[in-house]
Amino acid sequence: MYSTEICYICTMDMTLEEIKALLAAEGEEMESLLRRALEVKLRELDNYVHLRGLIEFGNTCEKNCLYCGLRRGNAKVERYCLTDDEVLSCARLAHELGYGSVALQSGERSDPEFIARIERLVREIKKIDGGCLGITLSLGEQTEDTYRRWFDAGAHRYLLRIESSNEELYYKIHPRDAKHSFSQRIGCLESLLKTGYQTGTGVMVGLPFQTLDHLAGDLLFFKKMDVAMVGLGPYIPHPDTPLYRFKDLIPGAKERMDMTLKMIAVLRLMMPRINMVAATANQTIDPQGREKAIRAGANVIMPNLTPGEYRESYFIYPDKACVKDTPDQCQTCLDIRLAAIGHRILYNAWGDSLAFTQKNTRK
Ligand code: 5AD
Ligand code: SF4
Ligand code: FES
Repeated sequence: MYSTEICYICTMDMTLEEIKALLAAEGEEMESLLRRALEVKLRELDNYVHLRGLIEFGNTCEKNCLYCGLRRGNAKVERYCLTDDEVLSCARLAHELGYGSVALQSGERSDPEFIARIERLVREIKKIDGGCLGITLSLGEQTEDTYRRWFDAGAHRYLLRIESSNEELYYKIHPRDAKHSFSQRIGCLESLLKTGYQTGTGVMVGLPFQTLDHLAGDLLFFKKMDVAMVGLGPYIPHPDTPLYRFKDLIPGAKERMDMTLKMIAVLRLMMPRINMVAATANQTIDPQGREKAIRAGANVIMPNLTPGEYRESYFIYPDKACVKDTPDQCQTCLDIRLAAIGHRILYNAWGDSLAFTQKNTRK
């Protein structure tokens, strides 16, 4: 075997140094990495892309993450919250469009009304057409009891990005206080795994102060936690956040995009059967960003179903893609874009992580 070729058996167990070497690849070497990851994905998971209709049902947040436009300290945000009826009509729309699954996302809240409301909404969504919709939650850090209540109500996937698996970097992008505890976040991921969720995590790529060591460490962290899903996307500086003052320290848009693609590709080699999201943030910094992510090994897309009038208020970062497009437009657009790169949407299916399903049938 030539040294530039990548052996997929060895790549499932790479060391930090080996991962760093792949993440540093450029030009033809990078292209060969991306090709290899695509081959592995097609072999393991075929050319299907799974959709999760994204419902951003509220933007009130108790937290103050230093990078995010929805942070509590950002007084410029107009806060909104969809009514139950609005959330349920989004879910029905997802079903009508054949999406198979919805993802409920909001700013972080942990008051009893919020917890009870989510439990109720999950039960209601589960009543649509005999429970045909899969439900992913992305509602931040909660107690194990809350995670259990929502799981028992019918949610079966949960996304909680670790944002950075390196504690020092974590505290450069979050305030160092009880509400933003690194060890608590890890504890939440452990609770989610223990509860039985298909658990997803992820990081932002191209953060100020982030090094190749951090990024390679993130990939090893995903592997060690044995998660079922990963979402990786480029960091996009938001002018109304404290981290913005370091924007000159981050790599350019192309470098952040390329590094995101290499992270996806290397992870696909390390964890061939997990679900990986082609994040919307990719589309923000590159018009072909999501397609590139799919070609680098991702297999999930989360089209936005939030009603048009609220979308601009879910202002996590600037220039979010599809903010002005209707669900119908996105669906047609995705069909065409994915067909153009030899992929197809698997409609009317939950699209569970094969890594998770197999692990649980072996138990
Ligand atoms: N750029 C890119 N992604 C961001 N997120 C929050 N702020 C930004 C930003 N400025 C991501 C975080 C969070 C998810 C909801 O959005 O990773 O988990
Ligand atoms: Fe809130 Fe999430 Fe934004 Fe942090 S990243 S401020 S928890 S919405
Ligand atoms: Fe939304 Fe293309 S996916 S307009």
